[in-house]
Amino acid sequence: MTVGVLDTGFRSALRRLDRAGLLARVSRVVDYDLEAAALMKHHDAGAALLFETVKDHEIPVIGNVFATPESSEAAMGLDRPRLRAALARGIHTDIEPETVSDPPAQQQVRRSGEIDLAAQLPVLRHAPGDGGRFVTAGVLIVRDPLTGVRNASFHRLQLTGADRVAVKIDHGRHLGRALDHAAEMGRDLPVAVCIGTDAALIYAASTMGALMPESRDELCAAGGCRGAPLPVAPAVSQDVEVPAETEIVLEGVIQAGETVTEGPFGEFVGYASPAGPAPTMQVTALTSRHEPVYHAINGAGRETIALRKHVLEVAAQEAVRPVTPIVSDVCMPAGGLHRFQLVMALSKRSERDDGMGRNAALAAFGALKDLNMIVLVDDDIDLHDPDDVAYALATRFDAASDLVVLGGMRGHEYVRTSQAGVGTKIILDASVPFERRADFERISFAAPPGGGELDAAYSGATVLSWLGRHE
Ligand SMILES: Cc1cc2nc3c(=O)[nH]c(=O)nc-3n(C[C@H](O)[C@H](O)[C@H](O)COP(=O)(O)O)c2cc1C
Repeated sequence: MTVGVLDTGFRSALRRLDRAGLLARVSRVVDYDLEAAALMKHHDAGAALLFETVKDHEIPVIGNVFATPESSEAAMGLDRPRLRAALARGIHTDIEPETVSDPPAQQQVRRSGEIDLAAQLPVLRHAPGDGGRFVTAGVLIVRDPLTGVRNASFHRLQLTGADRVAVKIDHGRHLGRALDHAAEMGRDLPVAVCIGTDAALIYAASTMGALMPESRDELCAAGGCRGAPLPVAPAVSQDVEVPAETEIVLEGVIQAGETVTEGPFGEFVGYASPAGPAPTMQVTALTSRHEPVYHAINGAGRETIALRKHVLEVAAQEAVRPVTPIVSDVCMPAGGLHRFQLVMALSKRSERDDGMGRNAALAAFGALKDLNMIVLVDDDIDLHDPDDVAYALATRFDAASDLVVLGGMRGHEYVRTSQAGVGTKIILDASVPFERRADFERISFAAPPGGGELDAAYSGATVLSWLGRHE
């Protein structure tokens, strides 16, 4: 499938959401302290929210931009297969960024001495248990000083001073490796934090593990996803590049030796991570467009998890393809945080395909370590509809023969039932043996006249006159 050259600019994404009716405006004054995040959480299965007037701030806040599969597809202007194809292209193709002059991201520049993050940016306090105000939608761009490879990744930043933030870096992150290399060289690590940035870069930054190895330059991966170079410009105070159309950029250095207490913060799993030591960033410039919009993401909200959905589905498809051609579609459902659970639809062609779904499931477990449950269904089940998947489990699954339990497997360390990430994975095989398909043929109804449209095919007056006769 070809997807051509894509316009993945953040503003273009917002315009597409608006045209699709997926961008709701909130015009009354909303508080950056808890209120905006609470509204985002309450509505995060719906449209993106633009808070036009934020208390004590001039900059509006946008939330829930990529919070649902529908919004993610609309923001990119692509349906599900094309979005998957664009992300697969990003995973496999490098296109070098292109330097442009007069970038919108630097229409306004504040330098050291002029910066007061808490006053100048509508940084949210998200949940009552959080340790403070956090920048949550910042993509951090660095160049590893040892390898020269550019890395882009999301890391939350807690405001700790007028021009200082704490940077949360989990174990194994490429940003942490670059910071270690800088420390070994006795240097600070130059960084640009891009808030409200190119959607292709947002997807590259959300992509982890073997899909985006340390050797991969993520500005080139974003270009691969776009099908064209990512327009960038040199930062004004650091030796690093920023996407030219970014709304707001914090430039600075991360100082490896200096730590500060960071957290607690409500995490994507729905629980809080505790306070702990984190490296600090000294901000050396704050740049933005004229009239920028500030992108915020709830940690414990759908946008954090939805950013991984399509890319992990691509990874699952690529993992099972060498095993068998019978996996006709895959879905990482919202209930499994688009990460821990996978549904695979099987199109069996003969009894020789019985059991192949389980083989494919093992391949998916191997490729996507955080998966802890895979449900196998036949292709007459709508795997994108959780009710239909539950129907398959209710009518086609017998635990004594259809449950596969795999103990002592590596998963995600945030799963609290695991032992530091080691726990149990299961396969629920709700696919029907090939020779028994006829026993499971679903009832089909006749096609209603007029395609089922009541107004077109039936008259409301008919119902009223029927009621009249039967009262
Ligand atoms: C919205 C969002 C916020 C995230 N916040 C953090 C964070 O604060 N710290 C962290 O280590 N990873 C965080 N992550 C995960 C990493 O950014 C992500 O896994 C990334 O791919 C890691 O980059 P790397 O592969 O270059 O190490 C976040 C991801 C998303 C989508």
